[in-house]
Amino acid sequence: MLQQYIDAIEKSNIVSRTDVKGIITFVNDEFCKISGYSKEELIGANHNIVRHPDVPASKFKLLWKTILNKQTFKATVKNKAKNGSTFYVNTTVTPILDEDDNIVEFIAIRYDVTKEVLLKEELFKKDTQLQELNKTLEMRVKVKTKELKELNRTLERRVQEEISKNEEKQRVMFWQSRHASLGQMLANIAHQWRQPLTELSLTMFGIKKAAINKDENALMIFYDESKKIIRNMSSTIDDFTNFFKPDKEKHYFDISESINESLQILDKIIKKEMISIKTEYENIEVLGISNELTQVIINLIQNSKDAFIHNSILIREINITTKKEKDFAIIRLQDNAGGIKEKNIEKIFEPYFTTKHTSQGTGLGLFMSRMICEQGLHGSIDVKSVKNTTTFIIKIPLQKSSINEK
Ligand SMILES: Nc1ncnc2c1ncn2[C@@H]1O[C@H](COP(=O)(O)OP(=O)(O)OP(=O)(O)O)[C@@H](O)[C@H]1O
Ligand SMILES: [Mg+2]
Repeated sequence: MLQQYIDAIEKSNIVSRTDVKGIITFVNDEFCKISGYSKEELIGANHNIVRHPDVPASKFKLLWKTILNKQTFKATVKNKAKNGSTFYVNTTVTPILDEDDNIVEFIAIRYDVTKEVLLKEELFKKDTQLQELNKTLEMRVKVKTKELKELNRTLERRVQEEISKNEEKQRVMFWQSRHASLGQMLANIAHQWRQPLTELSLTMFGIKKAAINKDENALMIFYDESKKIIRNMSSTIDDFTNFFKPDKEKHYFDISESINESLQILDKIIKKEMISIKTEYENIEVLGISNELTQVIINLIQNSKDAFIHNSILIREINITTKKEKDFAIIRLQDNAGGIKEKNIEKIFEPYFTTKHTSQGTGLGLFMSRMICEQGLHGSIDVKSVKNTTTFIIKIPLQKSSINEK
């Protein structure tokens, strides 16, 4: 039965026996298998043949101290196989005593725990790596957060700077365009006044003659005539001052009235350049500043007029229509002044884009028109050019709600 116990232990464990000095006297097959040595190599060798250099001498001292003290030593031991590989064994070394209580030999029973130990080591390594990573991660997140905050701050500042630069630019452009249209208006007034001034000097001459001749009747006729001319001249001024009145309050106004105002202001130029204007209106009211829309229409007609002259068009036509489409008021202004070249059409709403000589155009007309349509009227302005025609389409939302939505 004892033999059977020994067999059972030997089959399932790594077993060796040494003499009191540690010289191997017996090994089982399992020992040979795990250490890579043959029985012949092992028997007679010192047990430290499998000792791993990593294991500190103190551990062996403890082992010897324990077993020489006739006690059992238990530990997980790191060993080295013949081929240099490492294996771990859970070891129990028991001293065998004779009847006189003297140590005869030592028997060591072990089982292989290499896999478990390696797994544990791996786990430990991963754990420390993870902790390390966690630490650096926290640090990196902190650093990045700081960088981001900084970036945010400079970004906000730059956005603010750009906004104010832009506002400044717009102010300058508004001023320039106001200046330009003021110039155009003065030219218009001069134009409108030239003829009545000539007429007036003629009637003055008539008055002088009638006075010399003491012809009271003729005097009255010339006097009435000059009063009429002066009244006309004065009403021209009224048209313009009305247009230049600082009218910043939004109110509902009839689109066609605003368009007619533009036609009134440009009346003399239109006649002089022999432009035929056809209008077809629907009654539509929108919210905004009437004078601003007038300004847009003036810009568009001036552009058409310039194109008529530049392209030497003989039959000059402009069609203006207003129409309700869904929730929008649509103004279409079409001319047959030659069209806009494809390479230019993308750019015409950009500030300072002009194909005209510097003395004739600043390139702000359409830019300002778009600003007014988008910001003043909460709508849009678009252009289409087919063959020799150009059509500008202005879209203005009708309801207050759609204005607020924008
Ligand atoms: N009806 C049109 N027909 C042909 N070309 C046009 C027409 N309207 C505008 N353009 C082109 O678009 C350009 C830009 O027009 P915009 O009104 O913005 O500036 P401008 O007329 O050149 O100068 P400004 O209006 O400041 O005096 C014009 O120079 C012209 O080439
Ligand atoms: Mg223009």
